[in-house]
This record gives sequence, C-alpha cells and structure tokens, in this order.
Amino acid sequence: MSIANKDIIEKINLAIKKSEKYIGMGEIASYIPELANVNPENFAIALVDTQGHTYEFGDTDVVFSMQSISKVISLIMALKDNGYDKVFEKVGSERSQYKFNSVIPIDDKPANPLINAGAITTSSLIMGEDVIEKYDRILDLIKQMAASDDIGLLEEVYLSEMDTTDINRAIAYYLRSKGIFDDDAEKVLDLYIRNCSIGLTAKQLAHIGAILANSGKDLNSQKEIISKDIVKITVAQMASCGMYEISGKYLQDVGIPSKSGVSGAILGVVPGKFGICVYSPLLDQAGNSVRGKNLLKILSNDLDLNIFL
Ligand code: DON
Repeated sequence: MSIANKDIIEKINLAIKKSEKYIGMGEIASYIPELANVNPENFAIALVDTQGHTYEFGDTDVVFSMQSISKVISLIMALKDNGYDKVFEKVGSERSQYKFNSVIPIDDKPANPLINAGAITTSSLIMGEDVIEKYDRILDLIKQMAASDDIGLLEEVYLSEMDTTDINRAIAYYLRSKGIFDDDAEKVLDLYIRNCSIGLTAKQLAHIGAILANSGKDLNSQKEIISKDIVKITVAQMASCGMYEISGKYLQDVGIPSKSGVSGAILGVVPGKFGICVYSPLLDQAGNSVRGKNLLKILSNDLDLNIFL
C-alpha cells in the first residue's frame, strides 16, 4: 500500500479548521437517554479511499453507535435476502418531508428504507431462525465491510433505547397491522434497535463506505461482498433520502450520497473514490450532525468530491 497523499492530508486539515466555526452548534440527541451521556465535543473524521489508504483525524478511537446509519446495512441485507421486487413491494423509494420517526409517511407502506418505519420493515425481511441469528448476520456483514472484528453491541445504548422507544414500538405494531410483515412486532423492533446500537469508530465506518465506493468489492482481494446492483440501489437511496427532510438541500450543497445517525455520525460515499465518516454529536432539527454536514460540504468543495461536477 502506498503512502497517503500529503496534499490530501493538508486539505483535510484545512477543512477541519474551517469547520471549527460550527463547534457548539446544535443539540445532542437526548430522547435516547444513553446518548445524552456522550461528550458533545467528540470529533472525528476518517476517509478511506478505494485503494485502502486511510486518513484519520480527531477522536478516532471513540466508539459510537451506528443509529440510523445501520439502516443502510439493513437495506443491503434485506436486498441480499429477498431481491429488489420483494423489498420495494413493502417499502417505497421516495424522500419523506417528515421527521425520521414520524408515522405520517407510512400510509400504505413506509416512504423509504432510510426512515425508521422503512428500516423496521427491512429488518423484518432479514433471514434467520431468531433475532440473534439475524443480528449476527448483520454484524458479520458489518465486520466484513469494515475489515475489522472489533465491532459489537453497545449494551447500554441498546437497553436505553429499548426502554424508551414507544414511538418505534408503535410504528412496528402499526406496520404489522397493515400487513407489511407478519412476524412478532416485538422481535422486529428488537432487531431494529440492536442494529442501531452497534458500536464502531469513524475509521471502521469510513471503511464500510469505501466498500460501497468500490462497487461492493473488498479493497484488497477485490472479491464481491455486495453485488453491484445492490450497491447502486443503496447509494441512490442514500443520495435521495439519507439526510431525511433536508436530503434535497444537502445533495445540492454537498453532492455526496450520505446517511446520518443521531449519535452524530455521517457516512458519505463518493463512488470510485472514498468512504468518509464524520463524527460530531450535536445535531440539527432533522437529526443530522451540524459540524459533520458542514465539514462534508467544505471537503466536497476542497477535495473536489461532488458527484455532479
Ligand atoms: O430509532 C431511532 O430513533 C434511533 N435508533 C435512530 C434514529 C436516527 O439515527 C435518526 N438519524 N439521524
């Protein structure tokens, strides 16, 4: 592996500096009590290119929960297990103008796989004998994509959300009542919250993004982990729906398919080039990291990463 490019390192350092004006802006996600215990000053960014070169800055040892970024993995696994038609018979592919945990965009079926109702639906489509087997399959895929075995459940985050998540519980029962799935709603909910509570670092998440940027292939062996067709659908969903109700504006400003989580991480995929993870826990109204989205905007400009230019 060759040495990381000095010019890129300088540009990232400068972009980080420029993003300092956003420090302290936004709110921590306290509706999951355990998330409120996180240091709001945590900050990390990692980029992994499709050759496997890694660029890491800030608190790159800090482990945070994936939260909604796990929706990307649930979608991939549901597509692997069921194919396109069966998944999109149960869930739509259009952006929702409502909050990520709103029950409004469900109607006949959830608006898209990247809101809560959509990810509860994709969770219901994951194969396995029981919740643990399904969860283990998800975890294995994450480990493979991150090229790391050191990833697991953040028990406190999982228990804290299971204890307080009346809204997701309501969504799960509602979906079941609509015939979106037949399984026990509590078990589907359990799997969904487990997936959200998987803990990893910015570097591990950026590596996951790099696999998507590399058309689903392992960065060293070039062996297929995810088919090109599934990558295409997943990255398109990230671009159109990944940042919730600001997805359109974000795509105009940043031009990088991305997915946010309420722990404060954002995963970006620049096809053919980079997987990127930015982590900073203070969030905007839509649940996206304020410094994270602004740093991605700066980086997109300074490193020429906008997919439309
Ligand atoms: O279900 C929830 O509300 C959380 N476990 C995940 C939400 C989330 O990350 C939204 N993203 N920005």
